Amino acid sequence: MDYQLELTNVAKHYKDFIAVDNVDLQIKKGEIISLLGSSGCGKTTTLRMIAGLIEPTKGTIRIQGENMNGVPPHKRDISMVFQNYALFPHLSVYENIVYGLKMRKIRDKKVLMERAREMMDIVQLSGVENRLPRELSGGQQQRVSLARAMIVEPKVMLFDEPLSNLDAKLRERTRVEIRNLLKRMNVTAIYVTHDQEEALTISDRIAVMNKGKIEQITVPTELYTKPATKFIAGFVGHANFFEGTVQHVDGDRILVKSKGRHLIQAVVPGAGRLSAGKEVTLAIRPENILAGASGQNMPNLVSGTVTARIYLGSTVRYLVDAGEGKEIEIDLQTKHLVDCGEGDTIHFSLDENNLILVNR
Ligand SMILES: Nc1ncnc2c1ncn2[C@@H]1O[C@H](COP(=O)(O)OP(=O)(O)OP(=O)(O)O)[C@@H](O)[C@H]1O
Ligand SMILES: [Mg+2]
Repeated sequence: MDYQLELTNVAKHYKDFIAVDNVDLQIKKGEIISLLGSSGCGKTTTLRMIAGLIEPTKGTIRIQGENMNGVPPHKRDISMVFQNYALFPHLSVYENIVYGLKMRKIRDKKVLMERAREMMDIVQLSGVENRLPRELSGGQQQRVSLARAMIVEPKVMLFDEPLSNLDAKLRERTRVEIRNLLKRMNVTAIYVTHDQEEALTISDRIAVMNKGKIEQITVPTELYTKPATKFIAGFVGHANFFEGTVQHVDGDRILVKSKGRHLIQAVVPGAGRLSAGKEVTLAIRPENILAGASGQNMPNLVSGTVTARIYLGSTVRYLVDAGEGKEIEIDLQTKHLVDCGEGDTIHFSLDENNLILVNR
């Protein structure tokens, strides 16, 4: 398999500090990959090594199979889009957009005009080509920087939190536009963000980084429904955790006694490799907890006291004290609300098919 971009064992050390730790990444032509992770986990450093702005301490970066070690940034055929847009303030929108083509020695005015027109159509900037960047809104400036990066048809496009300066509504719309645009032009892209929703909407696959390492790389749906580790389950969406000991294994079904003395039955693929006595962590999303169940000493039934009721529009989140210091989050559809407020006792059940076995 030929990859458009391939990182093998790439690391960046600053003296004793490991900013990026043995990252492996293979990206196919036209694929959009997000690097998702909290502040300081090594996203920008990884991106800058790919761009050639930082020299890796070790490892190999290949673009279309060609080793990039020692190749300067301007010879890598990569475009980068930054958070602050980095537009040339004294150049018009048009001049900003054709800048990369001029750098590539394309001088024919007609060709420049045609390519710029095409790009401005795509990013919907027609009509403002003669304005200066400061005469544009934030969203328009972002589209100029997108057009400027894309017009040179780079082998790889790199995005470093390009939408964080936009307001929420515009951000939501722009990320869909970026994805459509990249797909239409079959551009290979790496998109850095710490916003999980942005990563879920824009990417073909998401690589979650933690302390310089890629902890899991997979498609968005799988990341949410089958997070590999406790960190990822808690970072991508909300999750409740139950630590406990396996009591019994039967095929894919396990019975776990949690530290809070809850009995939990779960159907988890690969349960066969577990045996009684093993310590495990189970996770469940707040929306996979069902309210209103009751029964004595039945597995998966839990009761607790509501400590907060948070109205979120389409859902209501209940924070529940389930005893022994265990706080549980439950999301209920507003239209299926139970009549239950702060201080009340709530009974609920954990859906056995939606419990996830995660690594610690
Ligand atoms: N030149 C440097 N010297 C020493 N440490 C550095 C240097 N550059 C970055 N670091 C450290 O490397 C780690 C990773 O930095 P990086 O900029 O890649 O994080 P990030 O994931 O992009 O975070 P953010 O979301 O805040 O932008 C951080 O702890 C940072 O302090
Ligand atoms: Mg960064």
